[in-house]
Amino acid sequence: MLDAKELVDTKNSTQAKKIFGDREVYEQELERIFGRCWLFLAHECQLEKTGDFVTTTMAEDPIIVTRHKDGSLQAFINSCTHRGNKVCTAETGNSKSFVCNYHGWVFATDGSLVDVPLKERCYHGDIDQSQLGLPKVRVESYRGFVFGCFDDNAPSLEEYLGDWGWYLDTWMVGAGEGMELVGPAMKSTLQCNWKVPAENFVGDAYHVGWTHAAALEVLGGELAGLAGNSAEMPYDDLGIQVTTRHGHGFGVIHHAASSIHAKREAYDKYLQASIPKVAENLGQARADLFDGHWNCTTFPNCSFLYGTNIFKIWHPRGPNEIEVWSYVLVHKDMDEAAKKEVVKQAVRSFGTAGTLESDDGDNMVNATTANKGAKARKNRMSSTMAQGHEGPHPVYPGIVGSSFIGETSYRGFYRFYQEVMAAQSWDDIRENNDSWDDIFDNKDYWKNKLAGDQ
Ligand code: FES
Ligand SMILES: [Fe+2]
Repeated sequence: MLDAKELVDTKNSTQAKKIFGDREVYEQELERIFGRCWLFLAHECQLEKTGDFVTTTMAEDPIIVTRHKDGSLQAFINSCTHRGNKVCTAETGNSKSFVCNYHGWVFATDGSLVDVPLKERCYHGDIDQSQLGLPKVRVESYRGFVFGCFDDNAPSLEEYLGDWGWYLDTWMVGAGEGMELVGPAMKSTLQCNWKVPAENFVGDAYHVGWTHAAALEVLGGELAGLAGNSAEMPYDDLGIQVTTRHGHGFGVIHHAASSIHAKREAYDKYLQASIPKVAENLGQARADLFDGHWNCTTFPNCSFLYGTNIFKIWHPRGPNEIEVWSYVLVHKDMDEAAKKEVVKQAVRSFGTAGTLESDDGDNMVNATTANKGAKARKNRMSSTMAQGHEGPHPVYPGIVGSSFIGETSYRGFYRFYQEVMAAQSWDDIRENNDSWDDIFDNKDYWKNKLAGDQ
């Protein structure tokens, strides 16, 4: 078994470089991270009617998600209990049942086995269909976003999200209607480890002015001022970075939802008109976050940019490969003009061929391949930026870092990564709940900062 404390040193905020390419690490991640955590499956807008289904994967396990005839959401493994064939090969659709292409076994929309061809003649009636349904996966929905979990001992989805749900509600509840996904997903493959983009989205605003310098200037939004790491940007006052229990996290640039793009008139109008309603629904703190630009990861592999409104799943396909599924996020109550504007600009920036997407892709691949060699993989990388300049905040839940550029949420992501990789079961993780923030040892940081002492 791997030593999780060697993989991640939470005190000194370093990680072994081999976490990006090692097969043994990856196999343990499949069991302990993807086998235990809640993973994004679909949005309820894709599953409105009885019989609606989507297929996806939880890490490398193929999954069917359905709206069953009793109205419930169901999820099960898309691998036939006869000889293992994939039962459903469509990406999405509506069906009363799923018929396996190999020998014709028929499964209902709750995964149960309802028919077996030639049952009497060939099995002589000796087959127990009740034991041969497709293996079920726990499925729960948060504000319309549907997640699945393989582990019966895991907490509920709501508990798993914890304080992160407080932030998500800013736009998942928002002005009242919340958000949905526009699909089908744009899909591409990238030769990188799944954690490279997951950590990038959880907390890397540092790269924006450098990696994306040219794109920011071309797009001409407010953040063009970040291009080349301009000294004039007042970094400390622009936003914050947050990590919450279970490795979720984000960075926000306040009042900057549209700042990558020069013109988003219809969308900006929607956001500004909605802020009073958000304040009424959720209070002023979240109304103030509503028109921000957020970079986020829900642990482990569901990342999104609220403001640019791209929503991504990094599906692992081995230690050195991912499939990227990208949807566009839209507020349900936006008018068509605003939706069109958002979709166009999200695709242009972070779709498969988006300008900023291509910038990132190069780094994702190179950060993976540069750590595979016999020497490089024995070394370590650091995530120490602004360590100590963070702590519990009087308004915002979780651990809050002083600027939107920092590595607070990297540290939270890898703190939980280490915890899950080391734990024998969720019972071990629950035991750590009271001390999850021990590594963020500057408990009075915000008290002092807000009092003007720092
Ligand atoms: S493998 Fe599915 S029916 Fe035989
Ligand atoms: Fe980026």
